[in-house]
Amino acid sequence: MKDDTALVHLGREPEKHQGIVNPPVYHASTVLFPTVEDYLNRSKGDRKYRGIRYGTNGTPTTFALADTVADLEGGGGAIVVSSGLSAITLAILAFVKQGDNILVCDSVYGPTRAFCDTVLTRYGIETTYYDPLIGNDISLLFKENTRLVFTESPGSMTFEVQDIPAISSTAHNRDLMVMMDNTWGTPLYFKPFDHGVDVSIQAGTKYMSGGSDLVIGIITAKTESLFRNIKDTTMAFGEIAAPDDCYLTLRGLRSMGARLRQQQAAAMKIAEWLQKRPEVKRVLYPPLSDDPGHALWKRDFTGACSLFGLVLNTDSLAAVSRMLDGYRYFRIGSSWGGFESLAIPANPAITRTTVPWTEKGYLVRIHIGLEDPDDLIQDLVDGFSRLNKAPQ
Ligand SMILES: Cc1ncc(COP(=O)(O)O)c(C=O)c1O
Repeated sequence: MKDDTALVHLGREPEKHQGIVNPPVYHASTVLFPTVEDYLNRSKGDRKYRGIRYGTNGTPTTFALADTVADLEGGGGAIVVSSGLSAITLAILAFVKQGDNILVCDSVYGPTRAFCDTVLTRYGIETTYYDPLIGNDISLLFKENTRLVFTESPGSMTFEVQDIPAISSTAHNRDLMVMMDNTWGTPLYFKPFDHGVDVSIQAGTKYMSGGSDLVIGIITAKTESLFRNIKDTTMAFGEIAAPDDCYLTLRGLRSMGARLRQQQAAAMKIAEWLQKRPEVKRVLYPPLSDDPGHALWKRDFTGACSLFGLVLNTDSLAAVSRMLDGYRYFRIGSSWGGFESLAIPANPAITRTTVPWTEKGYLVRIHIGLEDPDDLIQDLVDGFSRLNKAPQ
């Protein structure tokens, strides 16, 4: 089954629901058992991980979404949790213990870094941040107590593409696990398990749900045994996504392929237009042929989402604010992957610890929504004229 067909047909069994196209939403805390024996056996064998036995362990609605994402990514099992960030933190917590070291890319999503630097540090787990362009040389960072490598490619603020197959095979030579925040690639454009990843994370908050109206995370494991390890941890934390959010995410998934194709085409058109503007120093978008990550992106990805960066020729925040504050369609706000265009100022220099961010100009992160790209270009034209008139 091709991905577009899978998006439509996975996670639905109309014949079990009187022909109704979408699976119903099950709200549950208590689940009843007919006999004492059934109750006492409720966690035996596979029922522990896939049984319907209490709300926090999963309902038919949460399993419908989890199984759909697991199939799309090509993994052995998936777990839905309350946000993309909790998917990241719980996946890491499932495999580390006091005294361990983990390797995390220096380009990682800010709150992932904050989790490592606060919670993990407090529990005696050390994080080493690596250059996202490190490739096979990641082996130079392996220590006796290194447990796993956490990747995010491209970085969602600075867009470096990592050599995931090289990092994975080097890590596997030392029996280390590789995790990836695959939100930018989506399950459609990057197949993590074909490239050596063991655990893949999706912030379903973004393109999967697509409506900018919920937060949800999905952890997909390559194998059944990794899936069980992670589920043991998410169940221990009492972590599960809300059934209504699972329903909305499944509904969003049905149109994700079409939305992504439109958003990708618009992003490419706008990124190429931006490259020709005198106000723009560099556009950070791997599908562009002169992007430093283009060759790896072309080798490993089958498409791109509509999130990219823009380094301006000015580093005046006041001038950049004048440009951003006046946009008509691009709005200022966190997150991405919804139907609306966004533009936010970013300053990677303040978080980097291993590879300093040395770009002189101001970085703006752009998300292209489903608006007509010509309207968005006009909005950008007007913004540049505000930028040019602002005191630098
Ligand atoms: C790359 C990346 N991963 C994970 C997340 C976290 O997702 P959530 O907002 O659902 O916690 C985000 C959110 O912006 C993100 O950009």
